[in-house]
Amino acid sequence: MNRPMLGSRALRWLKCFHLLAVSCWVGGAVALTVLACHRQFMDDAAALYGLNVASCVVDMQVVVLPGAYGCLVTGLIYGLFTRFGFFRHGWLILKWIITVAAILFGMLYLGPWEEALRDLSLELGPDVFTNSEYLRVFSLHSRWGQIQAFVLVLTIFLSVFKPWKNLRTK
Ligand code: HEM
Repeated sequence: MNRPMLGSRALRWLKCFHLLAVSCWVGGAVALTVLACHRQFMDDAAALYGLNVASCVVDMQVVVLPGAYGCLVTGLIYGLFTRFGFFRHGWLILKWIITVAAILFGMLYLGPWEEALRDLSLELGPDVFTNSEYLRVFSLHSRWGQIQAFVLVLTIFLSVFKPWKNLRTK
């Protein structure tokens, strides 16, 4: 069955929304990484709790998660209604793998770690700075958050240089 393909004007709109979603996801991930580094220098429990709450809001409500879902939805539209398709190019297949893996990793690990940091900083008060569970989760969250942000930045280069083109000609 032949699907209708988007025209050149619709393609431009699609790219605008795709890049808007990309900037939210990558910008948010980089901002969260910088905030995570800043946490090490804090010694005020209330300020730390405030920062942890702000990180959760940026991550799960307004910037990062909507950006990630936006990439997924615009990526699906590219696959279904443009000549890029799903498996025609190596760079596209790699983008699918990175996007789905990053969303799952964020949902299963990064998000829950972030919520744990927020809840522990409220419960523990000033003891938070020496609590071994808090320090363990903090170290996991900041290390893997940095890796995730780095991979997303690399995906921008992958998208522009587009290696392994035309795996399938049809
Ligand atoms: C399911 C996931 C994704 C799919 C299927 C997808 C697909 C596409 C397609 C088909 C284009 C148009 C390329 C062109 O007009 O030449 C594009 C552009 C772009 N994508 Fe994605 N993308 C996905 C996720 C991402 C992610 C996660 C990022 C960055 C973190 C990203 C960054 C970009 C950038 C920067 C461009 C503009 C490239 C250019 O104009 O040369 N994409 N994407």
